Order: sequence, then structure tokens, then C-alpha cells
Amino acid sequence: MQHIVVIGAGTMGNGIAHTAAASGLEVTLIDVAQEFLDRGMKAISANLQRGVDKGKISAGDKAEIIGRIRQSTSVADAAAGDLVIEAILENLAAKSALFRQLDEITPPETILASNTSSISITRLGAVTRRPDKVIGMHFMNPVPVMTLVEVIRGIATSDETYGRVEDLAKRMSKTAIEVNDYPGFVSNRVLMPMINEAIFALYEGVATAESIDGVMKLGMNHPMGPLQLADFIGLDVCLAILRVLQEGFGEPKYRPCPLLVKMVDAGWLGKKSGRGFYDYRK
Ligand SMILES: NC(=O)c1ccc[n+]([C@@H]2O[C@H](COP(=O)([O-])OP(=O)(O)OC[C@H]3O[C@@H](n4cnc5c(N)ncnc54)[C@H](O)[C@@H]3O)[C@@H](O)[C@H]2O)c1
Repeated sequence: MQHIVVIGAGTMGNGIAHTAAASGLEVTLIDVAQEFLDRGMKAISANLQRGVDKGKISAGDKAEIIGRIRQSTSVADAAAGDLVIEAILENLAAKSALFRQLDEITPPETILASNTSSISITRLGAVTRRPDKVIGMHFMNPVPVMTLVEVIRGIATSDETYGRVEDLAKRMSKTAIEVNDYPGFVSNRVLMPMINEAIFALYEGVATAESIDGVMKLGMNHPMGPLQLADFIGLDVCLAILRVLQEGFGEPKYRPCPLLVKMVDAGWLGKKSGRGFYDYRK
């Protein structure tokens, strides 16, 4: 595998493009408009510069890595890649439309991967004529730092596709962990109920946000408490994933806490909106 295409130059897409290019792969980064590509490339440059400032890479290395990333606003350029990683917005209709288009544009042997946090890989595979080559590559944020890639097998994903994606993850200095396609995969199925329970504890007045996070940090050795983590992920994202779990399993244990629903209704989405369980407006 030599050339990978990343679609979506946002938080995850630019991190994936950065990491792939830093591993020596040729990358084409695609977004709908140049302004989003500019923003993504600016983030990559700033993140690489931190490495230069710390003496981990040279200014020459930085230029070389950036030089391996081609930019495009045309999805037709996805045809050039050995593998495509989709990292656009978390929306089933948008992702299905894109997978249908990719199935038309790319050679039949190209692997189509999605970085989705919660959408069924089996469903995305089903809109293509190559469900055996459709797979989930769930990178963690921030991509250049986090070593896990949760690799999700849809019902039809072949062993060969899994093997090639596992090799790619290794090449990108990541560890692939294999999981099957069920709502929330493993990461969010375990994480979101914990976050939701922490919100219930706050809602019921068991303890303050600081105390709940303090217990989990000091007592369980978590680097971040669940409420702080929810603020970082985005409360709207947490609520959307809980709804996927609730709908997918039909079990009351995934019922989102009313406090979470209320905060999302208020536009208190966590760090990105300035206010969540903590206040970031200062
Ligand atoms: N942010 C996280 O922590 C995180 C972690 C793991 C997985 N994910 C998943 O990764 C995906 C991307 O998330 P993000 O946080 O990077 O989003 P983001 O909003 O930062 O970036 C999405 C980018 O996709 C572009 N885009 C939208 N539609 C497009 C299309 N049809 N073609 C090309 N580009 C298009 C947008 O212009 C934007 O630049 C989502 O599926 C999300 O669930 C996010």
C-alpha cells in the first residue's frame, strides 16, 4: 500500500493524513472546499511544528511530510488511492451517499474504510458492490498521539481486507484491535455508558462534577474524569452515540440522562461551545 486517500480534512481527517504522510505514505486529502483544506493543512503544519520545536523532527522532515500530502476538492481524485479513509461528518445519509459514489469512482480492488464512531459498517458496505472491502478504521483523537485503531469488521468484510488494514495500521505505528460491527463497537459501548452514569450521578446530586471526576482520576487512574472527557468529546456527540446504542439494542440501560439532553438543548456542548460540565469561557 503506497497511496491513501483521506476524505474530510477536519479534526480526524487531518490527523489521519498527517500520520499517514509521516509514515512515508503518499496521501491525497479531499474536502468539499479549499477553505476546509486550508484549515486542515494549517492544523497539520502547527502539529508538526510542535515536533520541530521539541527536536523530535527537523524542519526538513516537516517539509517532506507536508510535501507528501496532495489536496483536492474533487472526490474523483479518490480513484488514485489504494485505500480510502472516509472522515466526513457523522451522518448516515451523507456517508452512504459518499460510499455509493466511491464505489463508482474507485477501482473495484480499492478498500473503502470509514472512521465513523457509531455508524454501522455493515450498512455502509451494503450500499456498495464490494461489502467485502468495506471496513471501519476508528482512529482516536488526537490521531498523531493515540496508538489505537479500532478496526471494525462488517458482516461481509473479508479476512484479506482486515489483514491489509491491520498492516496499514502497523505501518502508521498504530495498534489495530479487531472488533465486530455492533452498535458503538467496543470503545463507545463501554465509554458512553460510563459517561452517562457519571452524568446521572451529577443529576441525582451524588457529588459535584469535580468530585465525580476526582474519584475516577485518583481512584481508577483515568487521565481525565468522565465529565471532563465528555466536555472534550462534545456533549452533542455523546448524546448522539447514546441514541445509537439505545436504538440499536433497545435496552433502557442506554437511556441518555435527562441532564445531558437538557444541556445539549441549551447549546452547552462542552469545550467547543465554551460551556459544558465546566466553564471554558475564561
Ligand atoms: N472528533 C473525534 O474525536 C472523533 C473520534 C473518532 C471518530 N470520529 C469520527 O470521525 C468523523 C469526522 O469527525 P471530525 O471530528 O473530524 O469532524 P469535523 O467536523 O472536524 O470534519 C469533517 C470534515 O468533513 C468535511 N466534509 C463533510 N462532508 C464532506 C463530503 N461529502 N466530502 C468531503 N468532505 C466532507 C467537512 O467540510 C469537514 O472539514 C466522524 O464520522 C466522527 O464520528 C471523530
